[in-house]
Amino acid sequence: AASSDAFGVGMQPHAPRMASETFNPDVDLELVCKRDLVPVLPGKPTQVWRYSGNLLKGPEQTLTAPPDSYLGPLLRLTKGQKVRIRLRNELPEQTITHWHGLHVPMDADGHPMAAIESGQTYVYEFEVKNRASFNFYHPHTHEATATQVYHGLAGGILIEDEEERALGLPSGAYEIPLVIQDRSFDDANQLAYWGGMHRNMFGFYGERILVNGRPNYTIDVDSRTYRLRLLNGSNARIYKLMWDDGTPLTVIGVDGGLLEKPEKRPYVMFAPAERIDLWVDFSGRPVGSKLVMRSGEFSGLVPPMAQRMMGGGLFVGDDYPLFAATVTRAVSDSPKLPEKLATIRHSRREELANPDRPRPIALTMGHMQLALNGRTYESDNVMDIERIPVGTTQLFEIYHDHGGGMGGMGMGGMGMGGGMMGGMGGMGMMGMMDMAHPVHLHGEPFEVLSRVYEGRDADAYATVRDGLIDSGLKDTVLVGPGEVIRIAKPFNDYKGRFMYHCHNLEHEDMGMMREFSVE
Ligand code: C2O
Ligand code: CU
Repeated sequence: AASSDAFGVGMQPHAPRMASETFNPDVDLELVCKRDLVPVLPGKPTQVWRYSGNLLKGPEQTLTAPPDSYLGPLLRLTKGQKVRIRLRNELPEQTITHWHGLHVPMDADGHPMAAIESGQTYVYEFEVKNRASFNFYHPHTHEATATQVYHGLAGGILIEDEEERALGLPSGAYEIPLVIQDRSFDDANQLAYWGGMHRNMFGFYGERILVNGRPNYTIDVDSRTYRLRLLNGSNARIYKLMWDDGTPLTVIGVDGGLLEKPEKRPYVMFAPAERIDLWVDFSGRPVGSKLVMRSGEFSGLVPPMAQRMMGGGLFVGDDYPLFAATVTRAVSDSPKLPEKLATIRHSRREELANPDRPRPIALTMGHMQLALNGRTYESDNVMDIERIPVGTTQLFEIYHDHGGGMGGMGMGGMGMGGGMMGGMGGMGMMGMMDMAHPVHLHGEPFEVLSRVYEGRDADAYATVRDGLIDSGLKDTVLVGPGEVIRIAKPFNDYKGRFMYHCHNLEHEDMGMMREFSVE
């Protein structure tokens, strides 16, 4: 249903935003979305969609193009900078870009409503309010986010600030962004996006792992400490990060920047859109030695049924390599890991607007139906939108809602319910379909207050539990079947409509997305 109301859900793009005369940017750049031919696999190049960038004003390091990759340029921004980005659409269809993790005004947030047609330019203007953190940009086009990202549209944003700089963490060549994605290719080296209904329900799982846009990714390192900035840029795939020699992972940061102090984990669960900042010490490792990051075995987050149907031999929950680091040079000096990394101001109970009445975010997955609080984005409307007073911090409780899926909209009229449920014993259709959802809220990052497991599959949960990192500031939280998660989410500075959704991109496009109206 088309709507002339700028706040309606009819996806009628309005006139693209223009540069404003009163905004005086420190950084001014152009990003063009276009088709291109790039090398990915050996042999024939691959037709992709990508961002290419052009710096008009600002420090030279603001924009660096990753070599031989479909990924867009890495943007290096500094807290406090005023940034103008001119997004030009040279694709054959509508698009709009979202700066994932950035706290920006609504008209700079890449709302699906703001999508521009081929040939148009949308001008974003915002101040960098975030603390130092690794963020990214990607399309947020109504019902086309998954395909547009899949075909290559994504790029990293590294934000720096004084507090982080003062720590003297590894930087320059010793700080390496690593974007992990999975893709499938046909015999002519072209991207394949297959799977039909199952793909829409469970998400797309590619047959090959790409890091920074290339297969079999290896970095050459000196024998010293490094900072690896990982982003899970996959549409749906969840990884269980672990070093192949059993070295624990030293995590120093997540989505919203540095943790208060480093955390050592045997493995780390890594869901789409999440970022993990790793401290890796190669000192003492002999030249020629190799350390491999793998995704380890786990269960319970993706239904076994989906695992077998998707993934083309690279099953989610199996063990497979992601990338390698080879020590190529011995050096002696190396920065030491600081004991304290950052100060994070925790929201206290009395600062929450609704400490006794958490706002629910119920994740529903019925047959061909994915919803938040029983509604999909399509069925959303101005009447029942979640209204949030600006300047408040809200308590949310996120959980899997089996009941809602059954009774509400999921199973109605399917004629499968009874028979399947009976046949499957206690599991039922819902059990077969239960899967984890990476829930992302736009705007300021939030704090995870608690995570409680109320499911019955303790064995499955034991394979992931120790890898869930809830400290620090997050913008995406993985919610597994049976988990109940409470978050404190601030809504400061900007009024308007902001999205929250599942960052399994196929789920997002199926409507597992809603809006907050910050008023
Ligand atoms: Cu990274 Cu609303 O998305
Ligand atoms: Cu989901």
